[in-house]
Amino acid sequence: MTPLKGLILSGGKGTRLRPITHTSAKQLVPVANRPVLFYGIDAMAKAGIEEIGIIIAPETGEEIKEVAGDGSAFGVKITYILQDEPAGLAHAVLTAEPFLKDSPFVMYLGDNLLQGGIDDLVAAFRSNEPDALILLTPVPDPEHFGVAELDGDRVVALAEKPPEPKTNLALVGVYMFTPLIHDAARAIEPSARGELEITDAIQHLVDTDKRVEPHVVQGWWKDTGRLDDMLEANRLILDRFERRVDGELIDSQVEGRVVIEAGATLTRSTVRGPAIIGAGANLTDCYIGPYTAIGEDCVVEKAEVEHSILLTGSSVHDLDGRMESSLLGRNVHIRRSSGQPRAFRFMVGDNSDIGIL
Ligand code: TTP
Repeated sequence: MTPLKGLILSGGKGTRLRPITHTSAKQLVPVANRPVLFYGIDAMAKAGIEEIGIIIAPETGEEIKEVAGDGSAFGVKITYILQDEPAGLAHAVLTAEPFLKDSPFVMYLGDNLLQGGIDDLVAAFRSNEPDALILLTPVPDPEHFGVAELDGDRVVALAEKPPEPKTNLALVGVYMFTPLIHDAARAIEPSARGELEITDAIQHLVDTDKRVEPHVVQGWWKDTGRLDDMLEANRLILDRFERRVDGELIDSQVEGRVVIEAGATLTRSTVRGPAIIGAGANLTDCYIGPYTAIGEDCVVEKAEVEHSILLTGSSVHDLDGRMESSLLGRNVHIRRSSGQPRAFRFMVGDNSDIGIL
């Protein structure tokens, strides 16, 4: 059996997650305090894939390399592949051709999360031996996704965000390909938005009578490309947590499924799970509500935070109302200022989004 390789796409522009993506890769935004990219690497390692190529962009590639390393922490070997420009998912496949050679491979979008992992999908690909296998999930609003049309166990057509979808089956960001995909990616032209689309390459396989099989996923799938999706992914992962309290509690309560990492300190505070509090975080006189991930070395004082993600080194002090459904980048500081005149004071980067009472 030819070994399967893995290809994780962690290039792209990440425009929908600005300003976070001005300074960092969106695939490194933490979900339950772990970079979203790590869940994809885990899924591949669990499915027995040993060699993974990660597509990186010039702007964010170095940071991704630093964080994911050579793969030994996951039990895999990682090769980094630079894509000069974000010219589309099929362009990323072609960029990776020298790494993939003639191996079959799993392609996984680096900002996606799949609850059930990829074991089933790999097993189906091995036993049915199609030319490509695509993952699908029923959605209520297929007009916002790539949509597949089926005839029994074959995919007969794909449409990108069709105004009148023929089915409710959306393409999930995980695919299995044989090397035939390289020729298909070479045969297509860039789309109206100037990208080589993977849906067009798969459609080319269908049009040239190759067998493209559908596989409907069990469990949830999340594309974390936008803020709301990121918060939802955080909620879904935190929901799977087991309680573990390793940090120090001083006159504090921890309710339900909460992880408090060693080195975190809570003073006169309440944390209601599911939630995670990172190492070195300091919480004083505060309330942390469900579905919140507080990153390492964050400080929260005299404030209520719920359904939010705080990245490393951020702080929230003295808020009058509850902060919720928020994503704070690294080293962001929010505080009530006591000076006169009584006014709101901001120092905020491009494309930030602030809602005030
Ligand atoms: P998208 O989320 O479709 O694109 P994007 O990252 O440019 O984001 P936005 O639409 O907000 O600007 O990409 C899906 C995944 O594939 C994501 O992890 C980035 C990656 N990708 C590449 O590696 N190369 C590419 O050329 C493109 C378009 C995306």
